[in-house]
Amino acid sequence: MSTSGVVVHRDPELLAAATAARLITRIADVQAERGSASVVLTGGGTGIAVLEHVRHSPARDAIDWAKLDLYWGDERFVPVDDDERNEKQARQALLDHVPLDPSRVHPMAASDGEFGSDPDAAADGYARLLAGAAADGWVPAFDITLLGLGGEGHTASIFPDSPAVHERERSVISVRESPKPPPTRVSLTLPAIRRSAEVWLVTTGSAKSDAVALAVAGAPEAQLPVAGARGSRRTLWLLDEAAADALPRTRP
Ligand code: 6PG
Repeated sequence: MSTSGVVVHRDPELLAAATAARLITRIADVQAERGSASVVLTGGGTGIAVLEHVRHSPARDAIDWAKLDLYWGDERFVPVDDDERNEKQARQALLDHVPLDPSRVHPMAASDGEFGSDPDAAADGYARLLAGAAADGWVPAFDITLLGLGGEGHTASIFPDSPAVHERERSVISVRESPKPPPTRVSLTLPAIRRSAEVWLVTTGSAKSDAVALAVAGAPEAQLPVAGARGSRRTLWLLDEAAADALPRTRP
């Protein structure tokens, strides 16, 4: 039984801080239950702001950093030291400031990495990495997947009416001519995202409000990929008031 919920915070800063607190607590709870936890990180300004708040939180070391597996939902296929890299931004925001076990941090390949300039090879390589870490031999049942979304409904690097949104077999795909620069990316597919126990959709701003409302109402994922980003146990929308503005006014 999968549940979904919506939590709204006053503004972007409070949304990022509250999501960071929620993430720390959830990871600590999972680790208390199972000894380790796995989290899929996202790119984008909101996702990185959450990591910044985790870094500055007085509660951050409630997380046993050595027992945390980190993956990415998508990556811009650029050189490893390019400021556009989601991994580089995550390292600057948090990862390089906490005692993670480096063998448990799993970035997607860069365009100057082990697969050279071939994004298809990079995608296949990540799919193999996931399969090797998965009980079912395909994709791990991640504990939490963090995702952002675009105003037109993309999530990770899965854009409306794209080959990626129709992918049902592969767990990881390459994306060329992304409408959001940079143009070449590597991304989990929706079936891979749905292996996650919890999917947290974290966004702010009025530009996202229509996509949020349509997704919450159950729009078709082909036209609104974020609508297909659901957790096997829980899907949680974490919004500021502007991003929630088009939702039905059921709140008192
Ligand atoms: C990326 C992200 C992308 C992002 C959304 C929201 O690599 O660009 O994965 O899916 O999360 O575009 O970005 P903002 O939070 O900056 O609006």
